[in-house]
Amino acid sequence: MKNTLPEISVSKIKILDFEPKFIDEILEIQTETDLSFWSKNDYLGEHERPDSIFKVAQTADEKINGFALVRLLIGDTTDSNTSFDSAEILNIAVRYSLQKIGVGQMIFDEIERELGRKNIREIWLEVRQSNANAINFYLKNNVKIQYERKNYYRDPVENALVLQRLMNK
Ligand SMILES: CC(C)(COP(=O)(O)OP(=O)(O)OC[C@H]1O[C@@H](n2cnc3c(N)ncnc32)[C@H](O)[C@@H]1OP(=O)(O)O)[C@@H](O)C(=O)NCCC(=O)NCCS
Repeated sequence: MKNTLPEISVSKIKILDFEPKFIDEILEIQTETDLSFWSKNDYLGEHERPDSIFKVAQTADEKINGFALVRLLIGDTTDSNTSFDSAEILNIAVRYSLQKIGVGQMIFDEIERELGRKNIREIWLEVRQSNANAINFYLKNNVKIQYERKNYYRDPVENALVLQRLMNK
């Protein structure tokens, strides 16, 4: 069933690049959605990297309600040129109270557009086998299960599913 939050207008949600001033809200979302723990410095370090895409979803009240962090992966390197040909979604999350109204989709669409502009050919990601919400979200977005990594996660120990999305499909 969809969340019904009349005060939130999805059409007024903006997808922005991460800025350090958003860090405390990112940590709140991480805690609220039970993501694996990353420290403030982990996130700020990602923000500094040239091979990282870090997007946030901001509602009309200027609150950050979701984010995604993506790492570009090197396909071909020469002395003068580094090109990226794939990407890994390291994290994507939406505040629990705003899930299932399309915020995750908006973030994913923006990530896809940006990866398309960079000519990225495929997206990879890992997800806990029990995370049905995220698995459904990815399947809806043409991300396909490729294989399983046994006991990949800790606290609690659990298998990971490794998923891939070929771009332009
Ligand atoms: C995965 C997550 C980011 C999805 O964000 P969201 O804003 O709730 O997703 P959306 O509302 O944009 O949903 C888009 C589509 O995904 C699917 N989907 C999303 N949540 C779902 C759920 N709880 N159950 C079934 N399908 C779901 C649906 O197909 C939905 O489209 P529809 O509503 O037209 O059917 C969110 O559930 C989340 O933050 N989970 C906790 C963090 C997490 O596990 N991240 C993934 C780590 S790998």
